[in-house]
Amino acid sequence: MTTTTFPKSFLWGGAIAANQAEGGYREGGKGLTNVDLLPRGEERFSYMKGNIPHLELQDDLYYPSHEAIDFYHRYKEDIKLFAEMGFKCLRVSVSWARIFPNGNDAEPNEEGLTFYENLFAELKANGIEPVVTIAHFDVPVHLIETFGSWKGRELVGFYETYARTLFNRFKGTVKYWMTFNEINMLFHLPFLGAGIVFKEGENRDQVLYQAAHHQLVASALAVKALHEIDPEAQIGCMLAAGVTYPYSCNPEDVWAGIERDRESYFFIDVQSRGAYPGYAKRFFREQEWDLHMEEGDEDILKAHTVDYIGFSYYSSRTISRDPEILGKMTAGNVFPSVKNPHLRTSEWGWTIDPKGIRITANQLYDRYQKPLFVVENGLGAIDEPGADGEINDAYRIDYLSAHLRELNEAIKDGVQLLGYTCWGPIDIVSASSGEMKKRYGYIHVDKDNEGNGTLNRSKKASFDWYKQVIETNGAAL
Ligand code: BG6
Repeated sequence: MTTTTFPKSFLWGGAIAANQAEGGYREGGKGLTNVDLLPRGEERFSYMKGNIPHLELQDDLYYPSHEAIDFYHRYKEDIKLFAEMGFKCLRVSVSWARIFPNGNDAEPNEEGLTFYENLFAELKANGIEPVVTIAHFDVPVHLIETFGSWKGRELVGFYETYARTLFNRFKGTVKYWMTFNEINMLFHLPFLGAGIVFKEGENRDQVLYQAAHHQLVASALAVKALHEIDPEAQIGCMLAAGVTYPYSCNPEDVWAGIERDRESYFFIDVQSRGAYPGYAKRFFREQEWDLHMEEGDEDILKAHTVDYIGFSYYSSRTISRDPEILGKMTAGNVFPSVKNPHLRTSEWGWTIDPKGIRITANQLYDRYQKPLFVVENGLGAIDEPGADGEINDAYRIDYLSAHLRELNEAIKDGVQLLGYTCWGPIDIVSASSGEMKKRYGYIHVDKDNEGNGTLNRSKKASFDWYKQVIETNGAAL
């Protein structure tokens, strides 16, 4: 047993997203979203980047979000298993298109609201606090077709209405909200992250910064709305985090690391401190873009900052200015990084760096001085059953316990941490690859990359391990 410092109120749990778990993509009146148009296969990456040729489904492609793991019908069974592990919270997202099928309908879809009402009630009945992301990547296709998604200022108002609808309905039930999942994903996978499709001749960076401004104003308006409607509840931002290391102590590399981190901090600086930072203003000036900001936007950003900083952490990143080093990029990572010679990588080429979560948490806390919430962390791996048919995922236990031990150190360093929700406590569809075989769960789901399988759930070795961790409030780590 280790001496740990996780507070008594620590929110242990797991995290999933509507588009990767629910399925039922046209059930209950749900509209079509950007993620529903992402096939598994070689097209996926280029589509996610915003180079998607059409916004219609193709007969010859397989779309993993359509059924996903059928959480839409099986959530009660899954919640029982989470409760058995002792979860204190479950992070889920609401699908915008279940509530407003077109994104801007005059009235919300009652069936969608009822689905989430039942889901949250089931969680509560099992002693599990819902932690809810308002937008985890999915944008209704109608908004993409009509307004260019977040390119359009109109989205700010539609999102605000959507958020207000949720707050009014779930007031007193949901205590923790987040505005946008991995808001900085916009710069890396703009169609996956925000439904952005590029047109020929568009200045891509300008489009992205304009969309970012719209999301930042929308996020602040959601904070305002929640604070008015349910002052007891808290609302956070959510960053795809991971410190960037300079490859060497050459000041050029060190500066490159700072610049790379600022591409991500840019969002949180605004959401948490309430204003565009100086480095962003300089960038806008030098680009000579005509970014459209309305009168009053600055006041909105200033007045409505987030209560806590949610973040995901999978890997650290490394950068160099040396062209030869830059030639050795890691495979698979959504965030570009050169290979760190001191660290191993996962089967998908993602760098494994437990110490990096402590460094990242300390940096975020030093910068913002607000409570942090680790809302994603985990290892995507291929799980093979042993001779006894059981999955002994010792590699997953190693990854998670190493990261949790570092978080324990971060708490000792003085970081205020609300909780930890590992990613995909039950196997779900991979966001970046659309595969099922990239598994994160303590619970195995019988389904393969082609969509075959019974969808039956079964426990892996990590199930009992996590149960013990929670039971002992981290002492079993
Ligand atoms: C984060 C996302 O980027 O990483 C999740 O918020 C995603 O939606 C997770 O699933 C892990 O990535 P992947 O590609 O392995 O599913």
